[in-house]
Amino acid sequence: MNYYVTALALRLASANALTKSAYWTLSKMKGGPRSVWHDRGTWLLANLPEGPSRILELGTGWVHAYSLYQILVRDDEVHCFDVMDRRNFKSFAATIPVVCEQIQQMPLAPGLLERVRQRTAIIARCKDFDEVYARLNITFQISEDGIPHYPENHFDAITSIDVLEHVETSLFRAAAEGWYKIMRPGGRFLAQVGIADHISVYDGNRQPKRYLTHSHRTWDLLLNNDVQYCNRMTTSEMISILKDVGFEMDQVDIELCDISRAEVHADYQWQSDEDIRAVRADIRAHK
Ligand SMILES: C[S@@+](CC[C@H](N)C(=O)[O-])C[C@H]1O[C@@H](n2cnc3c(N)ncnc32)[C@H](O)[C@@H]1O
Repeated sequence: MNYYVTALALRLASANALTKSAYWTLSKMKGGPRSVWHDRGTWLLANLPEGPSRILELGTGWVHAYSLYQILVRDDEVHCFDVMDRRNFKSFAATIPVVCEQIQQMPLAPGLLERVRQRTAIIARCKDFDEVYARLNITFQISEDGIPHYPENHFDAITSIDVLEHVETSLFRAAAEGWYKIMRPGGRFLAQVGIADHISVYDGNRQPKRYLTHSHRTWDLLLNNDVQYCNRMTTSEMISILKDVGFEMDQVDIELCDISRAEVHADYQWQSDEDIRAVRADIRAHK
């Protein structure tokens, strides 16, 4: 779909509380499997602490997509957090076999594969999320203020996939302070962030950083929307805040796209070349 048509549609959906609620209700209704990117799941598994751990997934969305890897493969205490309830059990149940099949492609020990199958079967017998949570040691918390409320020094790891770019800019520092507080010393912070323009996805990703070609004013007046909010923060801004609140960076891998500075609007010219070209950032940090 055309970039501007999509932007307009999302803007109309953001018109008022009623249209937003209708949009979210409709987007929640999809009953089939949700896309889960196997490389993102394996990245998490490769970077989580060894042995059973207490893990928090931020922004778990419709099907707790990336907690599924830990739930099926590892013996963790899994906690899921979001700012609103987007969950759909039918979609969750339909996504489990997809993730199970993906995991079976991994070089896992036969005992572990059997465990994945057993856990998949347990979930298949559950009738709702509460039953899954009770059977598999999972909790789910919603907090509209965007800050997870758990005891201090509680988690061995905090993970998020495609979430940090959706945290409201004005809230980002307070949220980061919250993440730091509930992480135990030495705990790992693992975040994959989609820095690309999310509206471009509907336009075949022809210009993955298209918002940079428009002024802030055009963004605010025409392109921005609430129902698929994106903060447009740069990787450097996010990392700077994460460091400010106390996190130490272990590794940041950045995927770049081709966009020339000549295409970038004056409002964004202060950004470094790397920030302008960044479309994805994989952040590994610790407390
Ligand atoms: C693009 S979805 C990704 C969902 C899921 N991680 C996935 O990949 O399927 C972004 C998610 O971030 C959540 N989110 C927005 N602000 C947040 C915040 N401050 N803390 C945690 N999650 C937040 C949204 O509610 C939404 O579920």
